[in-house]
Amino acid sequence: MAEPLPQCYLNGEYVALRDARISPLDRGFLFGDSVYEVLPVFSGRMFLFAEHFDRLARSLHEIKLENPHTHEQWRGILEELIARNGAADQYVYVQVTRGMEFGRNHAFPAVVKPTVFAMASPLPVFSDAQRAAGLSAITVEDFRWGRCDIKSTALLANVLMKQQAAEAGANEALILRDGNVMEGSSTSVFVVKNGTVVTPPNSHRILPGTTRDAALSLIKGVMPVEIRSVSIDELRAADEVWISAATRDVVPVTRVDGAPIGTGKPGPAWLRLAASFAQLRQKLAGTPAYTPER
Ligand SMILES: Cc1ncc(COP(=O)(O)O)c(C=O)c1O
Repeated sequence: MAEPLPQCYLNGEYVALRDARISPLDRGFLFGDSVYEVLPVFSGRMFLFAEHFDRLARSLHEIKLENPHTHEQWRGILEELIARNGAADQYVYVQVTRGMEFGRNHAFPAVVKPTVFAMASPLPVFSDAQRAAGLSAITVEDFRWGRCDIKSTALLANVLMKQQAAEAGANEALILRDGNVMEGSSTSVFVVKNGTVVTPPNSHRILPGTTRDAALSLIKGVMPVEIRSVSIDELRAADEVWISAATRDVVPVTRVDGAPIGTGKPGPAWLRLAASFAQLRQKLAGTPAYTPER
């Protein structure tokens, strides 16, 4: 993983990331009592800003933590952060915790002063070799909590799953529940069979992916789409499997548990979708930069 960019935002100030400090009593640290967002930035412009900040608002609401900022305030904070970090392609990470109190109580503090943190990092590179060969995945049983729709920083299960994939020499762990594939450890999942794109429905078991929704709008009208459960057998027998996340839009998975998917190479439907995503990014890069009101 590349080094994060040097400037971060912490509780109203822009500081060098190396100097940023929060208390060990912060509930994000003690309990994972916090939520987050990750959104890509192309040529200095945030991609799917409203979708990410609608989801952040929803995550905060679901954990009963007041949103510390309006969308416009968030936009202003992040535009400044992006500008301070060179305004090029990058991704922004935002985290809001329920703050700290002197003590450790599971129940919420009487007065909550949230910790608000944001940093920028270079976008991961999808190398030419990966583009030609596709990624590999393993399957794992779901042992996460029952509210995976909340983008919580309590990600230990996801961390262990991704590590299991890494130790198997794979790029992602696809999560199974009751014989169906839910999503990846940090990605949404799609399968393509006989020209139809299928992706599992959103539920408490799945994070509603912003990139998934953007991909679905690009695909609709071009290929048939079905939103329904995908069984492990369908996954293995698919012509194409894709995973999606904000930091890498949609990428092909060509091996699952060591066996090839379809031809074992990135398929034609993915190539078409990747071209549409590239166009969308180019369009965004051509729009005027947002200037926050000061
Ligand atoms: C568990 C999980 N599912 C899906 C996604 C993809 O969501 P998005 O496309 O909004 O990045 C993520 C991204 O972090 C994730 O952690």
